[in-house]
Amino acid sequence: LAADLFGRLRPLLFGLEPERAHALTLAALRWLPLPALAAPAGAPVQTLGLRFPNPIGLAAGFDKNAEAPEALLRLGFGFVEVGTLTPRPQAGNPRPRLFRLVEDDAIINRLGFNNAGLEAGVRRLEAVRARGCTGIIGVNVGANKDSDDRIADYAAGIARVRQIASYITVNISSPNTPGLRALQSRASLAELIDRCQTARGPSSVPLLVKIAPDLTETDLDDIAALALQSRLDGLIVSNTTISRPASLRARHAGETGGLSGRPLMAPSTAVLAQIRERVGPDLPLIGVGGITSPADVAAKQAAGATLVQLYSALVYQGPGLVRLLVRASGRA
Ligand SMILES: Cc1cc2nc3c(=O)[nH]c(=O)nc-3n(C[C@H](O)[C@H](O)[C@H](O)COP(=O)(O)O)c2cc1C
Repeated sequence: LAADLFGRLRPLLFGLEPERAHALTLAALRWLPLPALAAPAGAPVQTLGLRFPNPIGLAAGFDKNAEAPEALLRLGFGFVEVGTLTPRPQAGNPRPRLFRLVEDDAIINRLGFNNAGLEAGVRRLEAVRARGCTGIIGVNVGANKDSDDRIADYAAGIARVRQIASYITVNISSPNTPGLRALQSRASLAELIDRCQTARGPSSVPLLVKIAPDLTETDLDDIAALALQSRLDGLIVSNTTISRPASLRARHAGETGGLSGRPLMAPSTAVLAQIRERVGPDLPLIGVGGITSPADVAAKQAAGATLVQLYSALVYQGPGLVRLLVRASGRA
C-alpha cells in the first residue's frame, strides 16, 4: 500500500523543484499521521556498543535539522543520522543547488551545509527524546564555511551533542565547503581526531569519521592507520563523489557538486573494501553510496560493511525500499 501511494506521488514530487519536493516530503513525514506499520524483522547488529534492530540506516543530509527522526525510524530504518549541523546556522550555496539525474538514478547536490545550526538541532533532539523515542539517532557535525578554525567547529559540535547523540559523525568529506576535504590528509586528520577525542570528554559516545570516495591510496593508508591508532570507533565510507562516471546520461550530469545514487555504488564499495583491508576485521565500518537493492546491501557487507546507509534511492524508490531492505537483511 505504501509503495503504491509513493508510485502515485512520485510524478507529483518529481514535477516540483527538487528542494521544494524535499521540504514537502519532510513536512509530510513530520505532520501526517503515518500508519504504525509493524516493523519488519531485520537482522539485528550489535556494534558501537549499541544494538541496531537492523543494519539499514538513513544517511546524513536527508534530515539535516532533526525535524522528523521519529517518523523516519517508523519507516523501518534501524538508525537515522541527522545533520550535518554546523555551530552557527548557515544558508548554504545559492539555488539551484540540488539536481535529479533521473536517467541515472542519481543526484548532484552542492547545498553547502544549509542548516539551522547546532542549537536548533539539539533542541529538536531533546524534544524527540522527551517524547520517549529510544531509537538510534546519530548526529553528523560539520564546520561553518566562514569559520577560521574549522577543527574548533567540530570540537564544539561534539561537545554540544555528546549527551544526546547515539553516535557522532565527523563529516570532513563534503565537497561543497571549500577546503573541508583537506582535513582528510594525514597531518590535519591527526590533529582533528585528537581535538575531537578531547571534546568527547569522558562520555562514551561513539565517534566516527565520514570520508570521501575520491581519495588516493596514500590517503587511505593514512586514514586507516590513524583510525586504528587513535581509538576512533568507526569510519563511514563514503560521502558523495566529485568524479563523473562516463556512464552518466542525464542533462544535469555536468553540474558542480557531489554525485550520489546508483553510479556511486561501485566506486564507494571499492573504497570500502580498500579500507576494510587496511583496518582489519574489527573496526566498525558503515557502507554508504549507491545502495538501490538487497543485492547492493549484500555487496557492501561483503566488502566489509558492519552497517549500511542510503539516501538517494529513497528519492527514486520511496519508503517501500526501506522495508524491502530490512526484510532481506533478516533473511540473509
Ligand atoms: C541532497 C543530499 C544532501 C546531503 N547532505 C549531506 C550532509 O549534510 N552530510 C553528510 O555527511 N552527507 C550528506 N550527503 C551524503 C549522503 O549522506 C551519502 O553519503 C551519499 O548521498 C551517498 O549515499 P547514496 O548514494 O545512498 O545517496 C547528502 C546527500 C544528498 C543526496
